[in-house]
This record gives sequence, C-alpha cells and structure tokens, in this order.
Amino acid sequence: MLPSPHAQHAAPRSPIRGPALPLGVAVTAIGMLFSIASAPVVTSAAPETMPEPVAVVQVPTVKVGATVAADPCAEPSVLAALSSGDDAGAIAGFGGGENFRAAVVAGNAPCISLSDPARLWVVVNKTLPLNPPEYEPAGLDAVPLQMTTRSGLVRSDVAAAVGQMADAAAAAGVGRIGANNGYRSYGLQVTTYDAHVRAQGQEDADAGSARPGFSEHQTGLALDVVACDAACGGLDGFGGTGQSDWVAANAWAYGFIVRYEEVGTPVTGYAPEPWHLRYVGVDLAAAYHAGGYHTLEEFFGLPAAPDYAP
Ligand code: DAL
Ligand code: ZN
Repeated sequence: MLPSPHAQHAAPRSPIRGPALPLGVAVTAIGMLFSIASAPVVTSAAPETMPEPVAVVQVPTVKVGATVAADPCAEPSVLAALSSGDDAGAIAGFGGGENFRAAVVAGNAPCISLSDPARLWVVVNKTLPLNPPEYEPAGLDAVPLQMTTRSGLVRSDVAAAVGQMADAAAAAGVGRIGANNGYRSYGLQVTTYDAHVRAQGQEDADAGSARPGFSEHQTGLALDVVACDAACGGLDGFGGTGQSDWVAANAWAYGFIVRYEEVGTPVTGYAPEPWHLRYVGVDLAAAYHAGGYHTLEEFFGLPAAPDYAP
C-alpha cells in the first residue's frame, strides 16, 4: 500500500487528567503551611521561573507536496503526462521510478499499460507480443554511432541517450561503442528469424532471435551495441570487452538495461546477450539498477516467459 497524503497525525491526549489539579493544589497548600511555620519572614522574593515545557510526543511533519499519491492514476499531473506522451512526466507523477514500479506491481496503476508499445515501460517477451503485431514506432532517428549493418534507426530519445552513453564510455577510456542493429520492422524480423531457423534449427533460433511480432527491436527502444577499436567487432565478440564491462556497469545511468543477462535466461528464454540494450528511460533504469533486478519481468512482477504459447 502506498501511504496516504491525507494522513493526519495528532499527539494523543493523556488519559490521566482528573487528579492533577486537586493534587497540585494540595501540595502547594501544604508547602505554604510549612513555609509559614518554619521560614523567616521574607519581604521580597525573586519571581519564580517556570520550567520549560517538555515535549513528550513528537508530532511528525507531513509534507503534502512530497508524499506519494494514494491513487496516482487520479492525479491530474499523471493523466496530463500520459495523454501528451510524456512518459518521464508520468513516472515523476508517481513519485519516481521505484514508486512507479511499486504501484504497477501492487495493481495500483490501472492507467499504466505494460502492453503499450509506445511507452518506455512496455514489456515484450515470448508471452507478451507487440500489439498490434505489425506496430511501427513514430519518431525514428539515426543511431549516432558507427553502424555495422543498415538497420541504423531507433527512437529519437533512444538515439540521444545512446550517443551520450557512447561519449561517456569513450571519455572513461574504454574505447568506442558502435551498433549493429537498432529498429527492426515486423518484416525485417521475419527475415532475421527465418535466417536463424535455417542456420541453426528452430530450437536454437528461439534462444537467440525473437519470432516476428515478439522482438523489442520492433519498438524502436532496443539496439545491439558492439565494441569498435581499430574496427568494429561483432555481437558475439562484445562480451568480455572493456566496452561491455563498462556498459554492464553504467548503461543504467543513460536509461538502458542489459535486457538478456545470463541469470535471466530461465525468465526470458534467451541466451545471454550482453549487447542487447533496452531503453526504459533514466528513472526506471535507475530503479532497476538500485533494486538489483536482472529482468524486466522481475522488475514489474510479471511471470517468467521462457517459452512461446504452444
Ligand atoms: N535477439 C533478440 C531476442 C531479438 O531478436 O529481439
Ligand atoms: Zn538485440
């Protein structure tokens, strides 16, 4: 449950109230009698100073503006961001990436569809195909890296982010990062998957290539990166390079997750692909990294999807 922003806290009242005043009066009166009987007559006295009141109960401060909405999907800021396609704004309206994730997992985000292929939070796997199957993303742009194929488009937000990531990797001294494949249309995924089946047989193809309509590459949010030193290497040569190690440690800061890690194979049904980066935006990637997740399914509390439906 998310805490309510409307929760009010009040100091409880003491249940012991009745005897306090009579007892105080009696003690004072007895004290006065003793004073009169034994003390010399005092003609002037220093005024008594009252003790400082002691705060017994600390009343918490409720910062209404900083609390998380009990019903985020009723928040005007969230609804406005969703309707304008401002995914980062919607996540901010939930209170950030971790609160967004927690709300989705708790079933407290009915306005968030993990099946919407245009959203940063879309989940595509072997049981969650794209909807519609031949979805085409809007706003594709050139990947600003050296390409090793002609599939050099991704969504413009992804293009900007991967350019920044590659610049940071180069500045860190790990070498250049290039790219092999970005966006793949449904039709190109047909060609790609069929080529794998012909070369390897269907079982091996299914461990490394998504069937048409089931690939993150079709959203424009995924790309495969390669290490470029004197020349760019291939996908299979990426793991173990300085670039790969750097990407595994730092890609989250640019909004990417390594989607198919070795530990995630039982969940995703894919062999490890250290080169396949999926853009989820900086807020969700930071929550993913901080939470130590290894699959998007785990992150959003979804069932494992190692196999296609029979
Ligand atoms: N290689 C990944 C799984 C894809 O084809 O989308
Ligand atoms: Zn890929």
